Amino acid sequence: MEVATTIESVRSLVRAARKRDQRIGLVPTMGALHVGHVSLIEAAVKNDDFVVVSIFVNPTQFGPGEDFEKYPRPLEADLELCKKAGVDVVFAPTPERMYPSEHLTWVNVEKLTEPLCGRNRPGHFCGVTTVCAKLFNIVAPDVAYFGQKDGQQAIVIQRMVTDLNMPLEIVVCPTVREPSGLAVSSRNQYLSEQQKTEAANIYASLQECRRMIDAGVTDARQIITRMQEILQQVSSTEIEYISVVDAETLEGIETITGKVLVAVAVKIGPARLIDNILVDTDK
Ligand code: PAJ
Repeated sequence: MEVATTIESVRSLVRAARKRDQRIGLVPTMGALHVGHVSLIEAAVKNDDFVVVSIFVNPTQFGPGEDFEKYPRPLEADLELCKKAGVDVVFAPTPERMYPSEHLTWVNVEKLTEPLCGRNRPGHFCGVTTVCAKLFNIVAPDVAYFGQKDGQQAIVIQRMVTDLNMPLEIVVCPTVREPSGLAVSSRNQYLSEQQKTEAANIYASLQECRRMIDAGVTDARQIITRMQEILQQVSSTEIEYISVVDAETLEGIETITGKVLVAVAVKIGPARLIDNILVDTDK
């Protein structure tokens, strides 16, 4: 496995792979790799000939007061994990290499970035789409892998690729969970054992939502109220949003029909946690 820290070096490694007619897969990450990331890497290793994992804690997607400084950066352990998983190249640039001078060009996906996480994290998705556009231009992959865990992010990235005719495919992989149901996240490290147990309530509320929809409930309000009740059973949980939206437009809906995204964001102690499920009433 090669570790590339410069744009030129990752480009030259990918160029050589392309000369060998290899299909290039990219898994963009911010490091602190866990089984969720590994599931994306495994999908890439299975589907592609040459796998690049980027590890870059992207400053432009963190707002003031967010956890950019304290975000975990265990690079050695991450490299070990990538090596074991069969990655060909880890691209781990410094912020100075990715943003060498005042950055004046931004990629902004409208509308889809306004609701859900967009509401409380202004500029966040603009940072995400901009860094992903840069990574796609640097690595030029055939495929890039994203997790359903960050459901809105996956939808926004897919839309950027479609709207800007970027020549790659986006694959979205299922959310990997702890045995308790808690979605695995680098930010779970901020939680105590007690808070982790409490955070399992997030998935319990989503499962209850699925159960209600399966039982024929179509009133989104009724479902949100029930989910609120479940989340409020844990007094340390501060609800940021519980939203039932159209899975393509991310617009709020009152009556559940077709493809629906049910998404939750809460604060538990020091961590902001998000989770979601996709429901398709036609299936
Ligand atoms: P990061 O939070 O490191 O996540 C990298 C990728 O792993 C994302 O596509 C995310 O959805 C996926 N992922 C995280 N936890 C997962 C889980 N439990 N199951 C399945 N997939 C999971 O998301 C980012 O980084 C950044 O915004 C990035 C896209 C790299 C741009 O900076």
